Amino acid sequence: ESEVLRLSTGCKNLDNLLNGGFRRGTITEVFGESGCGKTQLALQTTLYNWLQGCVYICTEDLFPTKRYEEIKINLSSYDPKVDYGKHIFVEHITEANDLLSCIRVRLPRLLDHHKVSLIVIDSVTAPFRCESTNYIRRAEDLRELAILMTSLAQKHNLVIFCINQVTASFKDSDNVLPSLGLAWSNMVTARLMLKKTLKIADVVSLPKQMHHLLTSNQPIYIRELSTVFAPDLPDASTEFVITSKGLQG
Ligand code: GTP
Repeated sequence: ESEVLRLSTGCKNLDNLLNGGFRRGTITEVFGESGCGKTQLALQTTLYNWLQGCVYICTEDLFPTKRYEEIKINLSSYDPKVDYGKHIFVEHITEANDLLSCIRVRLPRLLDHHKVSLIVIDSVTAPFRCESTNYIRRAEDLRELAILMTSLAQKHNLVIFCINQVTASFKDSDNVLPSLGLAWSNMVTARLMLKKTLKIADVVSLPKQMHHLLTSNQPIYIRELSTVFAPDLPDASTEFVITSKGLQG
């Protein structure tokens, strides 16, 4: 099942939690505070599925090319002669209207001519920030976005991976809430929460083959991914770390 239905994250613990990876034909949202590792997860998933074709829509920062180059050399099948960016289509979009027209017009054209198995939106939050005072307009746009994406995901059997931020008012709480409200929340298929914990990795928490990482002066914080809502996955969480090689655990 895992090979056909799901796209690997390239991290064993995360794939175990996700029963093999992100499910095709659906929208998965990953939310968490700034710096928790959302982009790293999206980037590594893109790398591990590069050959299947990926669209990476950046709405905040430029596509992290340098980091992509850094983690690609850790692929077990890494070959310096291969162009790992060949099937990656990057878009930079800042406005909600542009995002909608990209998904309504440009993406269907691209998908008619190229194999794509993953679409990342990093993040969905940013383009809708300027609409944050016009809640009706924002709810309508988010609804259209979700309908368009659900239809693309199903028609082309691809994974849609949306990154979302958290609401500021709950930042100190253990129960941070994803941004964009209920209108959006009800339309994603699965929702996962990513956290940078206050736990620092040590010889007990890290597998033996990663103990060499502990010699660095920088503390390595343990990250945690939890299923908040996922129809086909149990409520559970798993731990991993982010190193120069990418997400490991
Ligand atoms: P926002 O975009 O601000 O919402 O954050 P994010 O959740 O997308 O965080 P991101 O994926 O950018 O992760 C940032 C964290 O990943 C940093 O705090 C680092 O701990 C880790 N990280 C990023 N690049 C590297 C790297 O090259 N080496 C190591 N060791 N860690 C890295």
